[in-house]
Amino acid sequence: MKARLQNRKIVLGVSGGIAAYKACTLCRLLVKLGADVHVVMTEAATHLVGKATFEALSGHPVGVEIFSQAQRISHISLVKDADLMIIAPATANTLAKFTAGIADNLMTAAFLAATCPVAVAPAMNVNMYRNAATQENIQTLKRRGVYVLNPASGPLACGVNAEGRLPEPEEICEFICTILGERLTLKVDPLLPKPQKPLELMQTKLLNPAFGAGLKVLITAGPTIEDLDPVRFISNRSSGKMGYALALAFKNCGAEVTLVSGPVNIKAPEGVKLVCVRSAQDMLTAVDSLAGEQDIVVGAAAVADYRSLSVAKDKIKKQDGVDELCLHLIKNPDIIASVGMREVNRPYTVGFAAETSHTEENAQSKLIRKHLDLIVLNNVAKKEIGFDSNDNEVTVFNKDGKVAHFKTQPKSIIAERLVKLIIESFKACL
Ligand code: CTP
Repeated sequence: MKARLQNRKIVLGVSGGIAAYKACTLCRLLVKLGADVHVVMTEAATHLVGKATFEALSGHPVGVEIFSQAQRISHISLVKDADLMIIAPATANTLAKFTAGIADNLMTAAFLAATCPVAVAPAMNVNMYRNAATQENIQTLKRRGVYVLNPASGPLACGVNAEGRLPEPEEICEFICTILGERLTLKVDPLLPKPQKPLELMQTKLLNPAFGAGLKVLITAGPTIEDLDPVRFISNRSSGKMGYALALAFKNCGAEVTLVSGPVNIKAPEGVKLVCVRSAQDMLTAVDSLAGEQDIVVGAAAVADYRSLSVAKDKIKKQDGVDELCLHLIKNPDIIASVGMREVNRPYTVGFAAETSHTEENAQSKLIRKHLDLIVLNNVAKKEIGFDSNDNEVTVFNKDGKVAHFKTQPKSIIAERLVKLIIESFKACL
């Protein structure tokens, strides 16, 4: 299989934050995915991680100073033909220089000269991050088309527990793949045509904003739990992996994501708003209150179709001499159908169809019955792509028929491709 980043030139900028050490793993992961990685560091970063480390990991000399005779790396040649420039970690100082257009070191000069997409992963002390100057700089960069990967929350080097951490290298790597994956499929014309006009006039055109920037997306995920008594319940084997992968992929496209999730054993991606629910009715209440303000709602939850008519207050006891127990179950509300049928503020509505037989017919009739815009068919009878597996294979339909088929591959990649398709289909309806 072709490595995901094969033939991609990535310029990795490392500025002087304590998280610079994580950039080593990021560099290694990018190289492993086939990318040709060129590292540029600020002078401050070299006090935290040695140039030699990045030289060994990337296989290329590492640039720091503009006028270094020894290095002979120019800011122009560094970004020439690059597919992406990513700054991780991006300190408050470097972000401020990017915003102001200051070019006083090799990295800031390369940033100004870059015509490829640029992404930044801010990481710093929480107060520096929350400072109005930093926040305004980040907003300005976003407006100019720079992709921003929000910092994670957790223990910071300064000892407090708050936002400001550099996301894990694996997450940054996914973010990069999403940006480049998106551009790869859009690449009918050369990725970034050589500017015909002076560069300063082209700059904002060349740096497209993130594909999903400004979109509000809600995703339901995981199973629901329908209680029978204080210790027993009805549920299903949904792991939530597909819904959570979609949440990450939407977030990486710049969308504002809310995940309404039944109980699962996985962590919600950083930067995604998590609403935890238990039963189908809880999920309906949460979705109902939020759906009207969303652009897109995706129903990836495996909602229990039935619940007990009543939940016993005390544990249901065995009866001597009685060999059968009948449960009186009643139908749960259909959550995604309630979104699809909204008459006002109806978001673009996407559902999943978990089927084992007559898969295509069942999926298409579900699309109509639930008033969906798109339906993603999952053949859950296939063991290798069933519940709890890491892979999936899906076919997508709209009311006119089949629109895409994604063969068996990791759920994270399926999620990226689905997100791209969903956003494109949503935009086509505007
Ligand atoms: N769904 C929902 N609320 C329900 C049942 C399902 O929102 N009470 C959503 C799921 O999240 C999914 C879609 O409807 O997006 C289809 O779910 P699926 O389990 O395939 O179908 P069901 O509607 O439950 O029908 P059946 O079990 O008869 O196939």
